[in-house]
Amino acid sequence: MADETRICRAEQVLYKTYNRFPVVFDHGKGVKLWDSEGKEYLDFGAGIAVMGLGYGDEEYTQAVKAQLDKLTHISNLFYNEPSIEAGEKLLKVSGMDRVFFTNSGTEAVEGALKIARRYHYNKLHETMGDGCDGCEELQIDTTGEIIAMNHAFHGRSLGALSVTGNAHYRLPFAPLIPGIRFADFNDLESVKAQITDKTCAVIMETIQGEGGIYPAEEAFLKGVRALCDEYDLLLILDEIQCGMGRTGEMFAWQHYGVKPDVMTVAKALGNGVPIGAFLACGKAATAMVPGDHGTTYGGNPLVTAAAGAVLDIFEKRHITDHVREVGAYLYEKLEGLSAKYKVICGHRGRGLIQGLELTVPAGSVVSKALLEEKLVFISAGSHIIRFVPPLIIQPSDVDEMAERLERVLANI
Ligand SMILES: Cc1ncc(COP(=O)(O)O)c(C=O)c1O
Repeated sequence: MADETRICRAEQVLYKTYNRFPVVFDHGKGVKLWDSEGKEYLDFGAGIAVMGLGYGDEEYTQAVKAQLDKLTHISNLFYNEPSIEAGEKLLKVSGMDRVFFTNSGTEAVEGALKIARRYHYNKLHETMGDGCDGCEELQIDTTGEIIAMNHAFHGRSLGALSVTGNAHYRLPFAPLIPGIRFADFNDLESVKAQITDKTCAVIMETIQGEGGIYPAEEAFLKGVRALCDEYDLLLILDEIQCGMGRTGEMFAWQHYGVKPDVMTVAKALGNGVPIGAFLACGKAATAMVPGDHGTTYGGNPLVTAAAGAVLDIFEKRHITDHVREVGAYLYEKLEGLSAKYKVICGHRGRGLIQGLELTVPAGSVVSKALLEEKLVFISAGSHIIRFVPPLIIQPSDVDEMAERLERVLANI
């Protein structure tokens, strides 16, 4: 069946919230993908930073298949071994105290926001004694305010959208959750200016992904941590895109010598099965109590067996060491391209999350790379090509990518 026919069928059934590229992918192996007409592509998008281990990893596939044969789902009313194991491994690599498994990144953010609100409510409760149970009756506003960052992206559910710093995504769905105040990323004074006596948390990505691959500056992140300590606010770091080894540490915040109270993770955690998580430590780890949060699928044996396998493989194959090496190689290569082509006006990022900012819209470049050079990229913001390949890429893949990308850039 020709791709055109499939695309036509898709356009008749799938809810149209995406403008998709005209390619139907069929299968993958390693860092390569093949479309339904048998054409081969080099993948530097990894399904938006999901396929850390690449496609068709034998050990991962076997682990998921084994669990599929054994038990796929049991509900959170009971215990299951894969979720305990995946939880133990995730706490070990993060140093956090508790984990809650979700089905996606946006749900992980929802959970993190609920911890913040619950933490604030608990504090009010402590101050007012049991009186807070009657807050509604007394018309006392218990809304804990959350400071979020301009240009941040945290997901599409109404809560996650409320802290997403892009009005274009937010406005059509207003009113969103109240009590969100926006500050400028990497501007400590602007965060300080948003703190009130109702503030309960600050949420940010350690590296802004969708917003254009902007890493947090060390002084900024440390400064926000210090503000959170001073005002008793929870620091929530969203590591959904930049976490899971992508920067050369398991989590990007581990480069900075700060630790969040709450963090979110998803994407590469499942290497293609839908799983996310929010993790908490210290006072945040006990803020919510039984009955406060739940999910039918979250943390079921199938997806946590996948996450457990991913975490095992990361450790066994020293994935973060590899990312540091190949990430530095990619950085060098992209610096070379930046020096050569005037259309590139910026280069940012760390490890295997990097961005090239262009003087022209990135969409047309990404489309040319895909259709003419069989190179899969994803854009970020309007003018940035995002490089988030599978973490297993080799220097030879970087060379191949650069050669093909150069042909596209030379024609702009
Ligand atoms: C930083 C960040 N947070 C949250 C999300 C939402 O995750 P999901 O699409 O799995 O709901 C994304 C998705 O791109 C993201 O990059």
